[in-house]
Amino acid sequence: MKVAVIGCGNIANAAHIPAYLKAPGAEIKYFCDILPERAEKAVRDYACGTAVTDYRAVLADPEVEAVSICTPNNVHPGIAIDAMRAGKHVLCEKPAARTWDEVVEMLKVQRETGMTLNIGVVNRFNDSVRRIKQYIDAGKLGNIYHVYVSFRAHRSIPGLGGAFTTKAIAGGGALIDWGVHYLDIVMYCTGDPKPVTVSGETFCKLGKDMKNYAYTSMWSENTKDLNGTYDVDDSVAALIRTEGPVITVHGAWAQNIGVKETYIDFMGDRGGIRLDYGGGFTYYSVDEFGALVSVKPQFPMSNMYENEINAFLRSVRTGEKLPSHIETVAVTARMMQAIYDSSESHAEVRL
Ligand SMILES: NC(=O)c1ccc[n+]([C@@H]2O[C@H](COP(=O)([O-])OP(=O)(O)OC[C@H]3O[C@@H](n4cnc5c(N)ncnc54)[C@H](O)[C@@H]3O)[C@@H](O)[C@H]2O)c1
Repeated sequence: MKVAVIGCGNIANAAHIPAYLKAPGAEIKYFCDILPERAEKAVRDYACGTAVTDYRAVLADPEVEAVSICTPNNVHPGIAIDAMRAGKHVLCEKPAARTWDEVVEMLKVQRETGMTLNIGVVNRFNDSVRRIKQYIDAGKLGNIYHVYVSFRAHRSIPGLGGAFTTKAIAGGGALIDWGVHYLDIVMYCTGDPKPVTVSGETFCKLGKDMKNYAYTSMWSENTKDLNGTYDVDDSVAALIRTEGPVITVHGAWAQNIGVKETYIDFMGDRGGIRLDYGGGFTYYSVDEFGALVSVKPQFPMSNMYENEINAFLRSVRTGEKLPSHIETVAVTARMMQAIYDSSESHAEVRL
């Protein structure tokens, strides 16, 4: 199957390209980036494909069946929509788009064209997350009434002044960039409960004085531009009531607390689970003799990006609908939009 990678930056090189190269039966025909040197470097580094700067050249090639969109968020919807209209299946990086309205448009075109549109909510292909879903589905937690989400770091703003911190490009900051993964894990594990009300506040406090922002290392350092823009949230607090559990959201790219706390606590009336984000999990309950027990299940961890790409290729071949399909995961965009709207109006939003 011939595929193309559109946007040849960090995530393309760290995840999509190596996973396609390893996938049996897949061939990268194009590397596309508006910066020609990035597309050309990919052709040299991976010794395959053709470098192009305009994604429309990729879409015009009938041999290309599927594309990965690894560009900044503002161009996700336009490229995904054009690709589906050109008859290509799409794996679009997270977040699907900057706003709920843009996601609605993507959904509409997906339904019209019938092409696959999966979003890069890669944790749905993570072994710990899948196992937590099994625990929950098997009733090991009982009724889950509260999920506590923490994605708080000391100083982890990505690409200061670049695409990640410019609202017009990214749509938002810590919430849309990190929160999207955490909220998606919660929805996946708890059976995609319908959100009902949302109340939130987002804060733009520590990064906006970019020249004096202190840090030790930065994801996407190569896109830093201290003369650029910083107008997004670097922290967030929110409460989401759903038809299932209440979700409380505590997030920060940057905070004046020097501890990194990145976990999700699933609180049930029979048991609880703490997922250490990106790692394993602990299950807490009471045994049949009334003793408190905690278990740290041990299992091999496969590469979630390879799992995601392999599942995408399989879905293109077979038409299988994946758990990362836009129809399933769009609700996260709805909740994030409601948090931003609630923060702007300082009032609860009813969905
Ligand atoms: N799934 C994950 O865990 C994960 C991790 C990091 C980033 N991401 C997402 O991946 C996307 C890219 O992030 P990144 O860190 O790789 O950014 P990046 O800036 O390193 O790379 C983006 C690339 O896209 C190119 N580009 C911009 N507009 C384009 C266009 N119209 N056509 C073709 N190329 C274009 C840029 O020149 C750049 O090389 C973002 O949406 C981000 O949220 C996901």
